[in-house]
Amino acid sequence: MTIAVPTAGHDTTDVNRTRHDFTGVESVWLFGYGSLIYKTDFPFIERRFATIHDWSRRLWQGSHDHRGTHEHPGRVATLIAEPGAVCAGMAYRVAPATFEYIDFREKNGYLRHAVTLDFGNGERAEGLVYIADASNAAWLGPASEADIARHVMGSSGPSGRNSDYVLNLADALHELGADDPHVFAVADELRKLKT
Ligand code: BEZ
Repeated sequence: MTIAVPTAGHDTTDVNRTRHDFTGVESVWLFGYGSLIYKTDFPFIERRFATIHDWSRRLWQGSHDHRGTHEHPGRVATLIAEPGAVCAGMAYRVAPATFEYIDFREKNGYLRHAVTLDFGNGERAEGLVYIADASNAAWLGPASEADIARHVMGSSGPSGRNSDYVLNLADALHELGADDPHVFAVADELRKLKT
């Protein structure tokens, strides 16, 4: 008998609904590393600065539904596995029902994965994070930071300009005191293109 393993197509909403059983669970930590850091349009119980280990943020995922279109996808953040790396972001403790909204908002190739959140001072908790990997249909993959900036400059979608997404993310990371050479380099390239 063959067992079908769902792969990540463009719309991952239905697959994500089957990935975690929240029965009897009151709240779940969600790690945000992209627009979830600054676009908090969902209810949460508490939020805290957090890091996750062995993952790096990259603007390698295509966006057909927020910062681009099917004809010209924008570039948005995903995570790539990198031993020793530390990715800073914002952790939200949410009710399980909140995932119905976030699964839909972040449906373009992202799958929920379990991750350990590090709050500093030795405090850790298990949580979930959305990751779009190279097997998903919207994946764009690596390019130089200058090329990514040029691509971003030419993209926009229903949620606005792709350049605003990157600059907002860079600002939010600066506010968190987080270092992210990749995002900051793309933001610098964008500022050069805008002047
Ligand atoms: C985030 O901000 O963590 C996020 C980014 C893309 C998809 C889902 C979540």
